[in-house]
Amino acid sequence: MAILPSLPKHLQGPSVWALYIIGFIPAAFAFYLGASGQLPGNPVKEFEHLLGIWALRFLIATLAITPLRDLVGVNWLRYRRALGLLAFYYVLMHFLTYMVLDQFLNVTTIIADIVKRPFITIGMAALVMLVPLALTSNAWSIRRLGQRWTKLHRLAYVITASGALHFAMSVKVVGPEQAIYLALVAVLLGWRAVRKPYLRWKRQAAPPAAPRRTVSDAS
Ligand code: HEM
Repeated sequence: MAILPSLPKHLQGPSVWALYIIGFIPAAFAFYLGASGQLPGNPVKEFEHLLGIWALRFLIATLAITPLRDLVGVNWLRYRRALGLLAFYYVLMHFLTYMVLDQFLNVTTIIADIVKRPFITIGMAALVMLVPLALTSNAWSIRRLGQRWTKLHRLAYVITASGALHFAMSVKVVGPEQAIYLALVAVLLGWRAVRKPYLRWKRQAAPPAAPRRTVSDAS
């Protein structure tokens, strides 16, 4: 049974657009802080960090939609595409910040970094894998690709795991923040492994549906 009342139909579409707007607030705020000189320490690193961490949060939120529905009956499927696309835009902004503000578009250094620094290689791989998912996140691709769409979008698990690993490897010593993100991703991946048996068990444990009353029953 759903624990939250469902949104009236006329608000469902606008609520997705509201999510896009809300989703871009952290980026806009980080940009404002950067442009007005209010980012602490190294402003470029801080800006890069904010975009990277929000990318990871949106990736995790995207993967959390299915377990939320399975376990507590909250159906937020309509927000999954927006969350996934927000993750993609944040990774892209994080990457652009790295390329332009951090490396000043020095292609040689960027390529050397991607090849030689494992945490950047992993981050780059995650970005490359995100591109086909973002490009096929529309209704037309879902119809066209059928079952292949579902298979392709399972990459979201690999991407999120890569994102969390990239974060953990970007620091010298893994602290509580990195550990929390790694644990969250591990739980979501673990859920994927036990989901099918759990749903089978839930179907079997559910009481049989009550017979419907007909007009003749009432008379
Ligand atoms: C799914 C993809 C990605 C996610 C979720 C992600 C997320 C993050 C996060 C959370 C951090 C930690 C920031 C900090 O604590 O300072 C980080 C750091 C970093 N990321 Fe990414 N990232 C991704 C892809 C990339 C890509 C494609 C590049 C560049 C090729 C990149 C370059 C960097 C660099 C250079 C740092 C270290 C910044 C520093 O020196 O503090 N990331 N990333």
